Amino acid sequence: MIDNKLILAVPKGRILEELLPLLSKCGIEPEAAFSDPKSRLLRFTTNIPHLDIIRVRAFDVATFTAFGAAHLGVVGSNLIEEFDYSELYAPVDLKIGHCRLSVAMPEALAQNDDPTQWSHIRVATKYPNLTRKHFAARGVQVECVKVNGAMEIAPALGLAKRIVDLVSSGATLEANGLVEVEKVIDISAHLVVNRTALKTRPEAMQDWIGKFRKVSHS
Ligand code: PRP
Repeated sequence: MIDNKLILAVPKGRILEELLPLLSKCGIEPEAAFSDPKSRLLRFTTNIPHLDIIRVRAFDVATFTAFGAAHLGVVGSNLIEEFDYSELYAPVDLKIGHCRLSVAMPEALAQNDDPTQWSHIRVATKYPNLTRKHFAARGVQVECVKVNGAMEIAPALGLAKRIVDLVSSGATLEANGLVEVEKVIDISAHLVVNRTALKTRPEAMQDWIGKFRKVSHS
């Protein structure tokens, strides 16, 4: 359905909990189904007649917004960098969803390993582009095996000795006998906007950017 409402894309999962209070501070109250985990709806109305919300996978927020299917989105800086879409502009650091992208490996292996000596490594990761960029800058050749989740199990099963994944509390690494050996980047969620929408609907778009900027500083 194509109409002239503005669409805000938000990710499922962890960021959502921290995002809800920010939406509320911006004056956005989604319809009740949005907070119902059993609801199969993907698009939700809000108390603001010209604004709907869609809930998609974090990876897809960047894609929906870059292609103009959503006008605004909330997404981790890791995904902005992973996709590097030219149509995506990230004007506001929302300062939520803090975590980091790191290289990790089994504890026993890490004890006898010196990351400064790496010349060619294989890693399992959801983020091959960011990983390649990071290691290219360090002069290390990297072979990325793309996986979509549960990559902490990869070293034990021989898929790759090392992984590049998100670390927040560190509990997942610890539970799987892995240790963090190198940070790739610090991450936080940003407001992203579609550049064309910014040109064609400047007033409404700037208004929302201003509101999100204000609540990110409060
Ligand atoms: C992320 C990430 C790690 C975990 C890290 O997965 O991929 O597995 O969180 O968090 P921790 O350091 O607090 O343990 P998430 O639970 O978001 O699901 P995913 O595997 O679908 O990405």
